[in-house]
Amino acid sequence: MTLRALVREIRDREFPWTAATTYLNNASVGPVPERTRLALEAFNAKRTAPHLLPDRELQPLLDAARETAARLIGAEAAEIALTPNTSTGLNIAARALPLAPGDVVLVSDREFPANVYPWLALRARGVVVELVPVTAEGFPDEDRLLERLADPRVRALAVSFVQFSNGFRADLARLGAACRATGAFLVVDAIQGLGAAPLDVRDVPVDLLACGGQKWLLSPWGTGFLFVRKELVRELEPVAVGWMAFEGTDDFTNLTRYSDSLRPNARRFEVGAAFQDQLGFTTSVGLLLDLGIPAIDAYTRALGTPVLDWAARRGVRVVSPTDARHRSAIICVAPPEPREAHRRLRQAGIVCSLREGAIRLAPHFYNTVEELERVVGVLDEMMGAPLSR
Ligand SMILES: Cc1ncc(COP(=O)(O)O)c(C=O)c1O
Repeated sequence: MTLRALVREIRDREFPWTAATTYLNNASVGPVPERTRLALEAFNAKRTAPHLLPDRELQPLLDAARETAARLIGAEAAEIALTPNTSTGLNIAARALPLAPGDVVLVSDREFPANVYPWLALRARGVVVELVPVTAEGFPDEDRLLERLADPRVRALAVSFVQFSNGFRADLARLGAACRATGAFLVVDAIQGLGAAPLDVRDVPVDLLACGGQKWLLSPWGTGFLFVRKELVRELEPVAVGWMAFEGTDDFTNLTRYSDSLRPNARRFEVGAAFQDQLGFTTSVGLLLDLGIPAIDAYTRALGTPVLDWAARRGVRVVSPTDARHRSAIICVAPPEPREAHRRLRQAGIVCSLREGAIRLAPHFYNTVEELERVVGVLDEMMGAPLSR
């Protein structure tokens, strides 16, 4: 069955509140599905009596979360470290990469700050951080990034899979190939893409990728992961060391036999994980994987069409890219009075965001085309004379 045919049923079962609210704000925070709420509640019920949750049942919850994250991006579980959010993963990346004074890190300008501050903090070590100007449209300038990668001092490029403020989806295959050619590391902030847009690290040469679970992955706060390509794992050392990052610590009967060896897999970067949250992550991402990320991608991109058509008819500026290669689930439009437009949408029971002067619409697989048509109705009414169709 196609996703379109399934949506009504999933929506009623997993997101019953959508009957009363049009929620188009997945780029801020995604809803936790009912199945995940129920799994968390069952877990927390046992948690009140901890003997119901023995260690042999807890560690497999973390294994399942690593395996689920790995499936999401075509990685191996050994390449996944669980983290509580995107920022932790990006900080680990910035601190672990072998960057020396004078080395240059390229960061596309206008990135979300989570992917900027960890790099700027390296300036104290003499690393040069270059904020590469965006295009006239405000998108990461991929041509310019490629030009700058030719500079042998450039050792890393940090970019978002999808930009938070305009939905630009980076051509990671192109950027990754250029990084491979020069030996620079490609670090990706994936939180605005994963869950709605496919990314397979077997095809796309990403070196490190950080993602939080709270948006498109519909997971509890406190979840996320860092992917570290397996060829790199043993070369990189964590700055903060968790006690379970070391070999031998699975045996709780011998913990004071301290080990000299960090684990040979990405768990060396973990500093602990919350079992209940990771259970929630596995449950939510499992739902997305069952539906199929390519199907979600096609469906969510199609949802934007009524808004794009309306903007074209009305001459309203579309802040997002419209070409198939760079378009994502996020559609941003800038009507004449964006603040007032946002207020009216809210008044109509439509939840979305105002970002950098534009209305950001971020529909997921449980949204419907009728909901996007309602947005068009509100914006159109605000702009005055009705459209002749
Ligand atoms: C591109 C991007 N990165 C990171 C974050 C959030 O980071 P964290 O998961 O550390 O809260 C956001 C949230 O808005 C974002 O849009």
